[in-house]
Amino acid sequence: MGRLDNKVAIVTGGAKGLGQAIAEMFASEGARVIAADMGELTYSAKNVFGYHLNVTDVKGVQAFYDDVVAKFGKVDILVNNAGITRDAMTRKMTDDQWNQVIDVNLKGVFNMTRLFGPLMETNGYGSIINISSVVGVYGNIGQANYAATKAGVLGLTMTWAKEFARKGANVRCNAIAPGYIMTDILKTIPQDLLDGFAKLTMLGRLGQPVEIANAALFLASEESSYITAQTINVNGGMRL
Ligand SMILES: NC(=O)c1ccc[n+]([C@@H]2O[C@H](COP(=O)([O-])OP(=O)(O)OC[C@H]3O[C@@H](n4cnc5c(N)ncnc54)[C@H](O)[C@@H]3O)[C@@H](O)[C@H]2O)c1
Repeated sequence: MGRLDNKVAIVTGGAKGLGQAIAEMFASEGARVIAADMGELTYSAKNVFGYHLNVTDVKGVQAFYDDVVAKFGKVDILVNNAGITRDAMTRKMTDDQWNQVIDVNLKGVFNMTRLFGPLMETNGYGSIINISSVVGVYGNIGQANYAATKAGVLGLTMTWAKEFARKGANVRCNAIAPGYIMTDILKTIPQDLLDGFAKLTMLGRLGQPVEIANAALFLASEESSYITAQTINVNGGMRL
């Protein structure tokens, strides 16, 4: 018996990094997982199905929705994980840097949830998990665009927890705010800065993708059945 037997899950940005760890863990617990990503899957796992999707493409998201409903009939779990960084100090940040990050990290989350949230509401069941960041909770130098989106995602989380449950559906919406986790997204950050971030945690180290996947599994499963509108900080006790 898996904790997600008979469940259908979508993980955006599921081709690598945190999305991969979440998709693999959900599949190992019995779910059928659609890993929706702009890029090709960098791995293969039983019951993880790759789907080419850009979450900023409104028509593409609608076509994806239609395909998923036709093929799977329902969606129980949506993990809004796709995200990018385009870092710069505020006075040097270009319109492109601002717009790209808002488009993927905030509008992309909205594009997905405005379709799959109501589907869950109609079906009477669902768990939506938004991937925020420690940067959305505390802010960070050089990441005004990213911090705005990751704080924005927390507002969306509380709003959707209210909206999709208001008529009695068992639909929950929670966020995970990871600290610094070893994936490609950290590639542009110099090692001395990463060492500094590790020292800012109480545990004295950066995190591993599986440690985020464990929190996602908890929020996706019935073990969190009375938890909604919450943010789980998975950051080793970090304050920025
Ligand atoms: N790794 C960390 O330290 C960390 C910390 C806090 C929050 N996060 C968040 O976790 C999420 C995953 O990050 P990661 O570290 O795995 O990054 P990553 O760069 O390894 O993976 C991100 C994935 O998202 C996909 N993606 C990007 N834009 C997309 C789009 N428009 N449509 C569909 N897919 C798209 C990429 O192709 C990639 O596969 C992001 O939202 C990120 O902001 C990461």
